[in-house]
Amino acid sequence: MTDAQPLTQVKEGVFSSFILHPSSLIFMDIIHSVAALRERLQRVPNNVFVPTMGNLHDGHIQLINVAKPRAACTVVSIFVNRLQFGPREDFDRYPRTLEADCAKLKAAGVDVVFAPDEREIYPEPQTYVVEPSDLQHILDGAARPGHFRGVATVVLKLFNMVSPHSAIFGKKDYQQYIVLRDMVRQFALPIEIIPAETVRAPDGLALSSRNNYLAPEDRREAPRLHQVLARAHDEIMGGARDYQRIELHGMSELADRGWKPDYVTVRRQADLQPPQAGDREIVVLAAARLGATRLIDNIEVFIR
Ligand code: PAJ
Repeated sequence: MTDAQPLTQVKEGVFSSFILHPSSLIFMDIIHSVAALRERLQRVPNNVFVPTMGNLHDGHIQLINVAKPRAACTVVSIFVNRLQFGPREDFDRYPRTLEADCAKLKAAGVDVVFAPDEREIYPEPQTYVVEPSDLQHILDGAARPGHFRGVATVVLKLFNMVSPHSAIFGKKDYQQYIVLRDMVRQFALPIEIIPAETVRAPDGLALSSRNNYLAPEDRREAPRLHQVLARAHDEIMGGARDYQRIELHGMSELADRGWKPDYVTVRRQADLQPPQAGDREIVVLAAARLGATRLIDNIEVFIR
């Protein structure tokens, strides 16, 4: 009799936790080493991969929602990659929030979190690197020399550790998506690259870990970046083809409001080169500094 009592209580506890927190019953592995990761993934027929640097927000969770139906196992990596940060950039103060990130990933139904430390990814200095094409020197690459080399190098390494059959990247970082899509194609990696739409705050600001750096008055000003792009979108859809005028107009609106724009530019989606007459798949991209924070955003335009 006395033995039966605790058993009943345990059963009740499990039952109520199932009702209140269905996600708490789903098992998620948090793995730190490449060896343990390979061991774990050996058992799964296919996996879909979402690389991140952590400090997760709804933009990242959207990538997981895109990923989950595509494979038996969803793998998310969390690794702040020193190689893609410039010497004066925010590597040291980039927010590291592993515990909160894992709670969000578990609730989103992720199967495996790969959270290696630097020695696991770079046990020796990384002297072999991926040099992306000329694409790495334009737009964000011009403002951040070496950035896309660092991104491509770590993503190739992560691909070799995870061996995914598909991987999801956000269009928020449009140039990153194009660089990685081209890398996979040129090296014939057996991985399908799937883009996911940009997730925005209700006022239009694209979600980003770096939004946390904005002072309150800058946070109020920040949606202007999206507004400038949305206006460019509408002008092009309305028939405007003087892209230089659209670019200058966007740059000057941002500068007038105290931004330091790096670029507002109209490009082709396919290769991020200036559009030729007749090109219909366009993307307008912008990067600008507001206070000490550099924000990027873009909007696709499909000319009918
Ligand atoms: P991170 O900035 O953490 O972004 C991880 C992924 O989330 C990227 O594919 C990015 O485009 C996507 N993402 C970020 N904000 C988004 C938003 N608002 N809407 C939709 N997707 C969004 O990008 C990196 O990390 C790194 O460069 C990485 C690829 C992990 C290599 O280190």
